[in-house]
Amino acid sequence: MEFQFSKRSEAIEEGIFTVLNHKRAELLARGREVYNFSVGTPDFKPQPHIMEALMEAAKDTENYKYALADKPELLEAVKSFYHSRFGVEVETDEIMSLYGSQEGMAHVAMALCDEGDVVLAPNPGYPVFAVGPELCGAKIVTYPLYAENNFLPVFEDIPEKTAQAAKFMVVSYPANPVCSVADDGFYERLIAFAKKYEIIILHDNAYSDIVYHGKEGKSFLSYPGAKDVGIEFYSLSKSYNMTGMRISFALGNKSVITQFKKVRSQIDYGIFLPIQIAAIAALKGPQDAVKEQCRKYEERNKALCGGLRKIGWNVPDSQGTMFVWAPIPEKYKSCEQFALDLMEETGVIVVPGTAFGDLGEGYVRMALVHDIPVIEKVVNIIKESHIL
Ligand SMILES: Cc1ncc(COP(=O)(O)O)c(C=O)c1O
Repeated sequence: MEFQFSKRSEAIEEGIFTVLNHKRAELLARGREVYNFSVGTPDFKPQPHIMEALMEAAKDTENYKYALADKPELLEAVKSFYHSRFGVEVETDEIMSLYGSQEGMAHVAMALCDEGDVVLAPNPGYPVFAVGPELCGAKIVTYPLYAENNFLPVFEDIPEKTAQAAKFMVVSYPANPVCSVADDGFYERLIAFAKKYEIIILHDNAYSDIVYHGKEGKSFLSYPGAKDVGIEFYSLSKSYNMTGMRISFALGNKSVITQFKKVRSQIDYGIFLPIQIAAIAALKGPQDAVKEQCRKYEERNKALCGGLRKIGWNVPDSQGTMFVWAPIPEKYKSCEQFALDLMEETGVIVVPGTAFGDLGEGYVRMALVHDIPVIEKVVNIIKESHIL
């Protein structure tokens, strides 16, 4: 039987990741060593007190029932965490859990917009920012991020008609893949823009705990008026190395949260209780490991970018996130070709910038998921190759 699938699902491209995977398998089959800098999964370990809370909770048979809702203790833990970590006041009815920010971004448009409504998303940007709303029927209009503006949107350049039509705008700093961090002035302009055009802001704060050069990661909600215009997504995945546990939160504007909760109540029955309990342990427990981990990422960032600069590849240091956004060597015109050649010649796997939108052309993204000795080895392998 030949099935006719939805136009929305047919529009999704597997793209370069499939090509990279084939190439990787081919290299491994030839006995070549590969160095995977493409994945955004931290190699750091979850903290013992979080794992213990999970294991203890998993021994209780009551915890295997449908959770149905967020535990009150979890909402309280998020509330006090946001107060102590970011100086932000949120009420428990302004908070909801998600199966990760990825899932949240995939579904949020169901609550916020109708078929054909305009949604603003960054280009280059983390794919689900556009794919999620698109799957919900929204019309994506991207806003460009250029190096000369520190990869921040220029609000005056967004056409009046687009701004007037936009239902919501997805914004995320520290930014994956472009690795820039937004300043206070940016958030003030963002909130003013949102108020002027009545646009809901969704701020993805997945990397607030990975910010370099002595800066402190902030929350969008810490800026005056933020809660009037939008919500923030805060994920435990990267800060606590819990990517597989799938828990994050949406918080902020009460009416947005209430509407989103209503939609999700038809989709799921709540997060597995041991995971909720482990999340409480993460949020209420000691935070020094989070800071220490950021320091280690920064060392890797310096080793990789500094090392590559020394061998003639001009890669700027990241400002934040667990990634590096590297302009490709001048002799290349295509980032996909460069990524494939780099893999063939050195075994180093990176993501071509176009995986994040057409404005990613000219760049590749590398994840800081290897220790310094591996980074130094890889820099040396690249130096010895003819790729640059
Ligand atoms: C910007 C951004 N948002 C969200 C996610 C996914 O977060 P979660 O694990 O909470 O779904 C990632 C993961 O790489 C990310 O880079």
